[in-house]
Amino acid sequence: MKIKGPIFIGRSWHEYIEMFNLTPSVLRKGKILDCAAGASSFTAKMNEKGYDITALDLLYDKKPEELEIKCKEHLNILVDALKGLEDNFLWGYFKDVYDLKKQREMVCKEFAEDYRENNGINYIKGDLTQIPFKDNTFSLALCSHLLFIYDHRLSYAFHSESILEMLRVAREVRVYPLVKGQSKISEYLEPLIEKINHTADFELVPVNYRFRRGGYEMLKIIKKETRNFYD
Ligand SMILES: C[S@@+](CC[C@H](N)C(=O)[O-])C[C@H]1O[C@@H](n2cnc3c(N)ncnc32)[C@H](O)[C@@H]1O
Repeated sequence: MKIKGPIFIGRSWHEYIEMFNLTPSVLRKGKILDCAAGASSFTAKMNEKGYDITALDLLYDKKPEELEIKCKEHLNILVDALKGLEDNFLWGYFKDVYDLKKQREMVCKEFAEDYRENNGINYIKGDLTQIPFKDNTFSLALCSHLLFIYDHRLSYAFHSESILEMLRVAREVRVYPLVKGQSKISEYLEPLIEKINHTADFELVPVNYRFRRGGYEMLKIIKKETRNFYD
């Protein structure tokens, strides 16, 4: 069975920490926007810990029950599709496909509980190419598992507009992963860096997170005009 439209699942707050090297000092710098946040528990759990996180997603106009069902359905389809392709991934963070499914089901539940209470407050419906916030509202914008991995479905223009929008509302942007199947770095990465490098500095930074083969780096983008904020 194939998923029609956006894939709605979520990674845990802890996966976000590992994917984006989120130390307490980075988290404390200011407001953080999780872009295309899906059913991640990052917003729920990190706000509980006292940080200031907002989640943005195209599907946040939907009812909690609808999103919880969608998440469970998409998770089942993805886990089934993973079976037989285990060699494309490194097993350690998750013991096996069944452990992955169990952990992601828990994340989905944690997301749905928080979304039920805080939709419209910490969960904002929006398109990555037209983020409904003013310039420099956030210290950091994160984007996990939307850009670069679906470059067969999402155009170069979408990638470049999304990154420019995240850079407009945040002083710094972090994107993970940069590889798709067979550990191949997306062909969009180089032209994008070239296009935006008059406004921002780019860095490929090693991360501790290990799951997708070749997914060992995140892209860190810092707006030139705010460079001193991080120095
Ligand atoms: C694979 S999920 C990733 C969720 C989460 N970031 C994570 O890593 O667990 C991709 C998410 O991107 C959202 N999405 C797709 N296109 C979008 C767009 N143009 N603007 C905002 N969100 C979008 C989908 O609704 C979906 O929730």
